[in-house]
Amino acid sequence: MNSKRIYLSSPTMHDLEMKYIQEAFDTNWVAPLGKNVDEFEREMALYIGEGYAAALNSGTAALHLAVKLCDVRAGDLVFCSDLTFSATINPVSYEGGVQVLIDSEGESWNMDPDLLEKAFKTYKKKPKAVIVANLYGTPAKLDQIVELCKHYDVPLIEDAAESLGATYNKRQTGTFGTYNALSLVVLKNRTSDRYTGIWSEGAKAA
Ligand SMILES: Cc1ncc(COP(=O)(O)O)c(C=O)c1O
Repeated sequence: MNSKRIYLSSPTMHDLEMKYIQEAFDTNWVAPLGKNVDEFEREMALYIGEGYAAALNSGTAALHLAVKLCDVRAGDLVFCSDLTFSATINPVSYEGGVQVLIDSEGESWNMDPDLLEKAFKTYKKKPKAVIVANLYGTPAKLDQIVELCKHYDVPLIEDAAESLGATYNKRQTGTFGTYNALSLVVLKNRTSDRYTGIWSEGAKAA
């Protein structure tokens, strides 16, 4: 039996990585940040077509920042996708908020806009935010979800951690929310060694 171990997501290093590491040492820009991170943020914003992007340590941190910016506090409701990775909804708990899980529709497996609408009508208390995830790179029915959030005047957080590069109606995912989160952690379709989370403020958002 072949006992060679197959690693999950082992790094692929090229000459450029070493060049930029060396450059960071040579110019003493190892900390706090530096031009590589500035450039990374600028290029990422340009790529997805957003006005601004900030690099954080993880997609989870990007989602947490978005939840804080929606002013979620103890007891506040947040309508969330239910079929997703736990990081999509964990930040709501970090702030003491209460997740209301919205089930999926059968086409994209993401948040069902009809059930979201039902939740808006059912709950007397207005939610502080809606968090929609694009699971496995497949966009949710974003136009309908954006419309509903506009109608009810509730900020939308788009969790595009798994959908960097996927488009919906020719527009990059990660640009539909009031705030958006991407992830470049090792398991994602595009990765980076260090800064794995991107938070962006929706220039064209609801
Ligand atoms: C849907 C989803 N949201 C959020 C995250 C969190 O991203 P990170 O691992 O960079 O914290 C992930 C993956 O890890 C994810 O798949």
